[in-house]
Amino acid sequence: MGSPFFLRFEQCYNKPMKKGKFITFEGPDGSGKTTVSTAVCRRLEEEGYAVRYTREPGGSAIAEQIRNVILDPQNTAMDARTEALLYAASRRQHLVEKVLPALEEGINVISDRFVDSSLAYQGKGRQIGIEEVYAINQFAIEGRMPEKTIYLDVDPEVGLERIQKGRTYLDRLDQESIEFHNRVNEGYQEVIRTYADRMIIIDANRNVEEVIEDSYQAVKGLLDD
Ligand code: TMP
Repeated sequence: MGSPFFLRFEQCYNKPMKKGKFITFEGPDGSGKTTVSTAVCRRLEEEGYAVRYTREPGGSAIAEQIRNVILDPQNTAMDARTEALLYAASRRQHLVEKVLPALEEGINVISDRFVDSSLAYQGKGRQIGIEEVYAINQFAIEGRMPEKTIYLDVDPEVGLERIQKGRTYLDRLDQESIEFHNRVNEGYQEVIRTYADRMIIIDANRNVEEVIEDSYQAVKGLLDD
């Protein structure tokens, strides 16, 4: 029992494995979030960091099916609360099936969107109320919040112009009015004030290379911490 070999073996085996960090990217449509988060993730992977990129809504087979229902432009009759519940359902499935197992294995997870999106889009954009949307999401996430969130801050007009110029397919939410997108932006500003300690704000009105560089430095700093 007391042999040096056994002690070394025991120290090694009983050492609790370091859990991964959960980092999210948030921002309005047209903030460049997907381009930036995938580029950051790729660069970190190339440097040998244990990172997994994922996205919401979706990120697992069942959650992607829910995504298709939510974003289908034909589903114009969808009620705002149904939409909020579907986002929460998709979030739950993705969290349990993909995010938590990776974190347990010590892999850092970078998710393109998480609960803040629901607070801004459904809470404020759809005018359900941030508190109400937070409450249904608590059922889905059981208190599991990201350690840090990179918020890509873009003016709503700049964001919408990028979407309209750059995309051939517009989903049900992309097709919403400028008033809706302005409310989403206000919702995000409220979320940023509420969770100031968790937020890292990056000016996303600049060209994408600069935004990628700043985001990469921020995430790398968190993983090295
Ligand atoms: P994406 O464009 O980032 O893939 O997201 C799809 C749309 O879904 C986008 O318009 C934002 C919206 N959304 C919500 O309204 N609520 C949510 O909780 C999430 C995750 C996304």
